[in-house]
Amino acid sequence: MEKQTEKIAFITGANRGIGFETARSLGKLGITVILGTRDIEKGQVAVNELQSLGYKAEVIQYDANQAESANSAFDYIAKNHGKLDILVNNAGISLEQLMGFNNSSLISEDVLHKTFQTNLFAVIALTQKLLPLIKKSSAGRIVNLSSILGSLTLHSMPNSPINPAKAFAYNASKTALNSYTIHLAHELRDTNIKVNSAHPGWVKTELGGANAPMEVADSSKTSARLATLDADGPSGGFFHEGETLPW
Ligand SMILES: NC(=O)c1ccc[n+]([C@@H]2O[C@H](COP(=O)([O-])OP(=O)(O)OC[C@H]3O[C@@H](n4cnc5c(N)ncnc54)[C@H](OP(=O)(O)O)[C@@H]3O)[C@@H](O)[C@H]2O)c1
Repeated sequence: MEKQTEKIAFITGANRGIGFETARSLGKLGITVILGTRDIEKGQVAVNELQSLGYKAEVIQYDANQAESANSAFDYIAKNHGKLDILVNNAGISLEQLMGFNNSSLISEDVLHKTFQTNLFAVIALTQKLLPLIKKSSAGRIVNLSSILGSLTLHSMPNSPINPAKAFAYNASKTALNSYTIHLAHELRDTNIKVNSAHPGWVKTELGGANAPMEVADSSKTSARLATLDADGPSGGFFHEGETLPW
């Protein structure tokens, strides 16, 4: 009976950065957090830290570059929990300099493929695979870690703060991810599953770099909020903390 009320979350790329911080925030709420990490030993270190705080944490191997990873995530969650309440598609990469840079005329196919594989294709494959388990939840929540750098509206405004940040592969992968959020939310509009895109802020992580203004400790607010939305919360939106961002 207990399994019916216990909330289960799966967070990809959760051994460090915003993913780990999101696991910490959800763990603090009493949610069982399953960390998906491509290096299982790093994942175990992260799990040990969460367990030492009294949180319910587990780890499974998840690599966005390995198609089998989505299948093994499904098998593990189905066998051990029977359902999934929260999926945080957090794992992401940037292979380009993100700020003050425009590589549109130089971008290589290799960088495009690698970036889209992790930031988009793997997210779709994992979400599709886990959807039957999310449909078993009474309040499924899917959070896609996007970025304000995926906003076409802000990119096309000459005076917007992100206007000079035109790393094409990363930005376009997040624009496409936002499109997936809108499309999936529409398909699921008559279910109790909500799908939203999150911009965490510009965060001091390996990806965000040392000049980012936001500390990692503050970085999970948006993901955690969207992961725990009430039944009357939004679906198919793009948010930073409580604020709606333009597509
Ligand atoms: N930091 C920012 O300012 C910022 C702003 C907007 C959006 N975001 C988004 O927020 C998310 C988290 O970013 P972050 O700043 O926390 O990045 P980060 O510190 O670089 O951490 C990235 C995480 O993703 C994992 N990862 C990378 N490639 C993977 C793969 N192929 N399979 C599985 N896991 C993989 C990494 O695992 P390893 O440890 O094994 O490398 C790590 O756990 C990303 O989607 C990013 O685009 C970040």
